Amino acid sequence: MSKGSTRPLPYGRQSIDASDIDAVGKVLAGDWLTTGPAVEAFESAFAVRVGAAHAVACSSGTAALHLALEALWLAERDHVIVPAISFLATANAVRFMGADVIFADVDQETGLLTADHAEAALKGAAGAQVKALLPVHLAGQCVDMAELKSFADAMGLNIVEDACHALGSIDTSGDDPAPVGACRQSDMATFSFHPVKTITTGEGGMVTCASADSAQRLRSMRNHGLSRDARAFQNAALAFDGETANPWYYEMEEVGFNYRLSDIQCALGLSQLARLDDFIAKRGELVARYESELADLAPVVRSIARAPHCEPAWHLFVVLIDFDQIGASRADVMGALNAEGIGSQVHYIPLYQQPYYRQRYGRQKLPGAEAYYARCLSLPLFPDMTQGDVDRVCGALKGIVAGG
Ligand SMILES: Cc1ncc(COP(=O)(O)O)c(C=O)c1O
Repeated sequence: MSKGSTRPLPYGRQSIDASDIDAVGKVLAGDWLTTGPAVEAFESAFAVRVGAAHAVACSSGTAALHLALEALWLAERDHVIVPAISFLATANAVRFMGADVIFADVDQETGLLTADHAEAALKGAAGAQVKALLPVHLAGQCVDMAELKSFADAMGLNIVEDACHALGSIDTSGDDPAPVGACRQSDMATFSFHPVKTITTGEGGMVTCASADSAQRLRSMRNHGLSRDARAFQNAALAFDGETANPWYYEMEEVGFNYRLSDIQCALGLSQLARLDDFIAKRGELVARYESELADLAPVVRSIARAPHCEPAWHLFVVLIDFDQIGASRADVMGALNAEGIGSQVHYIPLYQQPYYRQRYGRQKLPGAEAYYARCLSLPLFPDMTQGDVDRVCGALKGIVAGG
């Protein structure tokens, strides 16, 4: 598409090519549409890609968060510290467990949780039984995991990383840089394969972990709590014919879910994973172009601050805009961009502002989250964009800032 075109530019979009379509077609023509070999193939390739011991595929990033909290054995009286800037699912997964959320503030320039914010949230919740931290690697930038892990260890807290934005990002905070998802400094990490994410399966998710026990629980809870492990059968009279386990037999010890990811989706995931390096490179080039094109609008419009200790695989391109300075509201800017066929989005409204959470926990205002939210706007970023598309978005934004 040439420069000057007016094709619609959403803020995010999947990239599907012939290799993806071919991979899905092969599964559709085969024997297994679900619980077949593509699931294990995707899980194994994903585990290798992020350097994790185990990867468990599931039906969404939300399901991944829920399963991870199940694998932590989160109880109803437990609390989990969640950054105020994230998608609803991060906090909601805690409520699925009947546990409670403690919202932590974030850095106003990156939107990321820090150990200091986690510590302040913990202090503010004196008396609450806090079990875990749920850091979010926003836009593809990593939370400083080394710092967070030493805080968590000192306080006896678990960590589940919400890595839904950060597939392919490298955490450089530890002694050894490692891909997000390797779980060197956390118990588990969760990913989403929604179409705007770095790779897609339509809907889909993954949990990675180092512990074999956690992986086993994730697999069981993904599939109704059902087990075919004869060593663990309790009802021997039904389970065995002499020494041999009956071939039809399975047992359920607790209620799980149907959070399975189909072979159709896993085949797409596997083929998308093979394209991940290209996606990351392309997103990086587009972000670099945005940054050079928008440099002259600083400081009124600037991209979010670079998080140290991270080599990001960019999921979002977020700018912070001083709307007072430019004399236009965010709704005006979004409307003017939209009039030129350019999508934009806000990531995110502070979670504690949602009526459900306001009703449950009362009114809150965390200054970093408020300052971040007041200025953030995500501009289009997806691998099939061209540099000309970036120039078009920047040109439109410059026109709006100039009052044009
Ligand atoms: C940070 C974050 N966490 C969790 C989710 C939930 O993922 P899904 O939409 O696949 O359920 C999303 C998806 O938008 C997300 O952005």
